[in-house]
Amino acid sequence: MAETLAVALGERSYTIHFETDCSAALAVRIAALRAAGRRAVVVTDTSLQKAQAAFLRAAFGDSPVIAVEPGEESKSLAGLSRILDFLAAHKVDRGGVVFAVGGGVIGDLAGFAAAAWLRGVDFIQVPTTLLAMVDSSVGGKTGINHPSGKNLVGAFHQPRAVHISTDLLRTLPAREFAAGAAEVIKYGLLGDAALFARLEGGPLQPASADLADVIRRCCAIKAGIVEADERETAAEGGRALLNLGHTFGHAIENAAGYGEYLHGEAVAVGLCAAARLSHKLDYLGAADVRRVEQVVASHQLPVRLRSPLPLTALEAAMGRDKKVRSGGIRFIVLRSVGDARTQGGIDPALVSASFREVGASV
Ligand SMILES: NC(=O)c1ccc[n+]([C@@H]2O[C@H](COP(=O)([O-])OP(=O)(O)OC[C@H]3O[C@@H](n4cnc5c(N)ncnc54)[C@H](O)[C@@H]3O)[C@@H](O)[C@H]2O)c1
Repeated sequence: MAETLAVALGERSYTIHFETDCSAALAVRIAALRAAGRRAVVVTDTSLQKAQAAFLRAAFGDSPVIAVEPGEESKSLAGLSRILDFLAAHKVDRGGVVFAVGGGVIGDLAGFAAAAWLRGVDFIQVPTTLLAMVDSSVGGKTGINHPSGKNLVGAFHQPRAVHISTDLLRTLPAREFAAGAAEVIKYGLLGDAALFARLEGGPLQPASADLADVIRRCCAIKAGIVEADERETAAEGGRALLNLGHTFGHAIENAAGYGEYLHGEAVAVGLCAAARLSHKLDYLGAADVRRVEQVVASHQLPVRLRSPLPLTALEAAMGRDKKVRSGGIRFIVLRSVGDARTQGGIDPALVSASFREVGASV
């Protein structure tokens, strides 16, 4: 029996379905769409197309599929253009449904194409990475990158449903699983001390008996935050809390050059930097900073930069962050493990010192 979680957003509400294998449920959906005369199309990437060929066949049968190159480069205007051409070629009309089957790249790209095509058609998220299962498939942020920065072009477009199958993680490379674990650690730190304690007890692994429970817990936290602040407009707290570790992390990704660190790896270093900043603000004790680092390290994630990056480059990248540009630097700080807050007006010297402590060079 599948478990479900409701994301309550009025007329944009939807259900997250949790199953070990969701292919049968998806096949039922495809048949129902077909019976109703609605077109279903699939967007995925070529790696996944190879790794999960049997799943794709079982779930989607002979539905039209487009597979883009794996990786962040596909989240571009050129990538979007390919998807729009595909939707046009298959005559997807207002009743059409786009299935985004992949990691965060595919979810963001296909979701944005669905938001833009005919001013918005339905889409369904089928996340296949740990990161996408616990984070990017829920909440309706879709978009692509622009040469001047990451995720700068996009739309809020909630999916009609999310189908999460833990079986799909069996083929996910270990490094990608670890990157997703960084977001799980983030949830524990920002709002669930019991989840953080669970991660302290031993690293989350693909074979962990409670993997599905942990994913559900993360989705519940994200759903609660999105329900309260769908468009990230709250003056304090709200959806911005999900950026814990990300202001530092985005700067690391940008200064190192995209691709050098996986997003989750940069976030992992960012979480350690955020913990150090919280210590400098007298919120977090030194022992808690060590706890954060230990959990990060036990999940095979970096606690420091692998090789030094110039502080000036990191600071410049932080200044270009879209969250920063749109309203001055507001950091997410930890008042304690399990309790994060937004805070503005932080002394830039403390931010620089935190960067130096995770390996930035002067
Ligand atoms: N919309 C949001 O709220 C949100 C939140 C967080 C991150 N993101 C975005 O998510 C993206 C990162 O997503 P990601 O970490 O999932 O990376 P990704 O989509 O690039 O996937 C990582 C790699 O894993 C492969 N892969 C995926 N599932 C697999 C499977 N089951 N078996 C084998 N290989 C598989 C892919 O082919 C790819 O090479 C970034 O672009 C980031 O901006 C969006």
